[in-house]
Amino acid sequence: MSLESPESSQETFTHKVEFELNGSPERHSVPTSTTVLDLLRNSCSKQGVRASCERSVCGACTVLVDDLPVAACSTFAFDIDGARVETVEGLAAQDGTLSAQQQAFRECGGFQCGFCTSGMLMVTTALLRQNPQPDREEIRDWISSNTCRCTGYEMILESVERAAELAGAKQQDQAPE
Ligand code: FES
Ligand code: FES
Repeated sequence: MSLESPESSQETFTHKVEFELNGSPERHSVPTSTTVLDLLRNSCSKQGVRASCERSVCGACTVLVDDLPVAACSTFAFDIDGARVETVEGLAAQDGTLSAQQQAFRECGGFQCGFCTSGMLMVTTALLRQNPQPDREEIRDWISSNTCRCTGYEMILESVERAAELAGAKQQDQAPE
């Protein structure tokens, strides 16, 4: 990530921000105060990035920046210059095939109202990339940054364990004989 010298207007500094979003290039000019949440929802039409507490508490706005979960509400847009950003809209394959996490959350009832789900999917996507077979304590630890008001978390834990199974089975299918 790099911070370019700001270009000043009369009252507001703006920054040019270039990044990769779900595999496609994005280029924007944003005021210094613009958050990643504002940029993704308002300029990139990524409504799957939820806005709730907007102070880095609930995890609803979680996106991946260079594979790590980040609270979009508390990250300035100029900080993602040069980064690879992923939102829930990028999880499914181009043909609509759900990712292992999406499939597992659907199978195991990992969501009810769905408000927290995009953040949960992103944080657990990051977890499974780092450790494809996490134990329950590790899953609990990772999702502790994200609040769900509906599910009681048990079904989310089951969903992540199921996602690990599905991802493992997929890799075995794809392994050369
Ligand atoms: S909206 Fe960002 S952490 Fe709650
Ligand atoms: S499914 Fe409703 S907040 Fe989590």
